[in-house]
Amino acid sequence: INVTDTAASAPKLPTLPDAQTVTEVKHWTDRLFSFRCTRPASLRFRSGEFVMIGLMGDPDPKTGKQKLLLRAYSIASPSWDEELEFYSIKVQDGPLTSRLQHIQPGDQIILRPKPVGTLVHDALLPGKRIWFFATGTGFAPFASLLREPQTYEDYDEVIITHTCREVGELQYGHDLIEALKSDELLNDVIGEGFWKKIKYYPTTTREESPKMGRITDLMRKGEAFEDLGVAPINPQDDRAMVCGNLAFNLEIKEMLEGYGLEEGANSKPAQYVVEKAFLD
Ligand code: A2P
Repeated sequence: INVTDTAASAPKLPTLPDAQTVTEVKHWTDRLFSFRCTRPASLRFRSGEFVMIGLMGDPDPKTGKQKLLLRAYSIASPSWDEELEFYSIKVQDGPLTSRLQHIQPGDQIILRPKPVGTLVHDALLPGKRIWFFATGTGFAPFASLLREPQTYEDYDEVIITHTCREVGELQYGHDLIEALKSDELLNDVIGEGFWKKIKYYPTTTREESPKMGRITDLMRKGEAFEDLGVAPINPQDDRAMVCGNLAFNLEIKEMLEGYGLEEGANSKPAQYVVEKAFLD
């Protein structure tokens, strides 16, 4: 990576390859933030995919060379959006997020425009209901898919579950779902009231809230299905996308297999797909 100094009169920003400009930053809790940045004109992606983003690290004290700090981040904005949005954890000693959490509008980040991922509609066979299962920052790809018209074209019902430790960690998802009601594009394309197809099931595990417990336990007890007023998961009607911490992914994968669903991929669509949530 070459870091080129700009002319003295220009803003003192290094011109990095693949640089994009931050346009908005929102801090949700002391552990979570989201930000928006410009979108490279050449970047096409499918809602639910991820890209590598990051910053230049400090220069190596010996060589003076700067290392690139890159991580895989789900794109939280839908494929039609002019800008890109990301939803991130802040890890105080995390190599990237300890720095990334301080970005401000006007700053530059590095974005490799090569989107990939399995949480895409193409990796699932047609069905009646789609379940989005998220923990923590695993909500990010669903923030994209919930704003994607195809989600509502392909399914009669869209169920999003989000399990977090604390109430404040649910806010980003809660606000996003509320905003769908007045989303002009989706109301125009899908029809007014499209958002009534959505069933939102937020739960917390370490702070009091209207619904407490891990989604896995709530499903095992049948409580989640009762609360949602839906039949238990079956391979004919249900499709699922999973994005959370490793233990959660493994547990819910086993449960979905138990309901008779098979894991799909871009090359072989099936009934559910899984991806790790970002942890720095
Ligand atoms: P818990 O508080 O009981 O560990 P984290 O912030 O550690 O990534 O966790 C996000 C949420 O995921 C927490 O509410 C956590 O619950 C929950 N969680 C962790 N492991 C599992 C699992 N195996 N199944 C379901 N939920 C889980």
